[in-house]
Amino acid sequence: MMKKLLVLAVLGVSALCAADGAKIFGAKCAECHGANGKEASISGKAIAGDTGALSKLTGYKSGSFGGEQKATMQASLEGLSDEDIKALAAYVGSLK
Ligand code: HEC
Repeated sequence: MMKKLLVLAVLGVSALCAADGAKIFGAKCAECHGANGKEASISGKAIAGDTGALSKLTGYKSGSFGGEQKATMQASLEGLSDEDIKALAAYVGSLK
């Protein structure tokens, strides 16, 4: 019984984390990258399934990564915590 509860608790927590990434993406990223990360007309490439998204996003935040339009991305990441960015990167990497 306890074991079952524990499994449920763990599943619940990971489901919440995944939901956060999806929620933030929908609110702050989808307008440019598309609801499923496949829109390439603004950013030049689709980001769906990019498993390197975390280092890119932290790089945009710190200023160590980016192309000609990196100011756009820096502005988009303003106000997001490291936890938010991790959840977002995981979500972006999971998009197909
Ligand atoms: C206002 C439009 C806009 C919004 C909103 C936006 N982006 Fe971007 N994104 C861009 C542009 C433009 C680039 C290319 C920037 C450059 O020159 O480096 C980019 C680049 C990226 C890249 C790197 C692509 C690559 O491989 O070079 C990732 C990852 C990314 N965005 C994720 C996100 C996430 C996650 C969010 C939500 C927090 C977000 N973007 C919100 C416009 C946007």
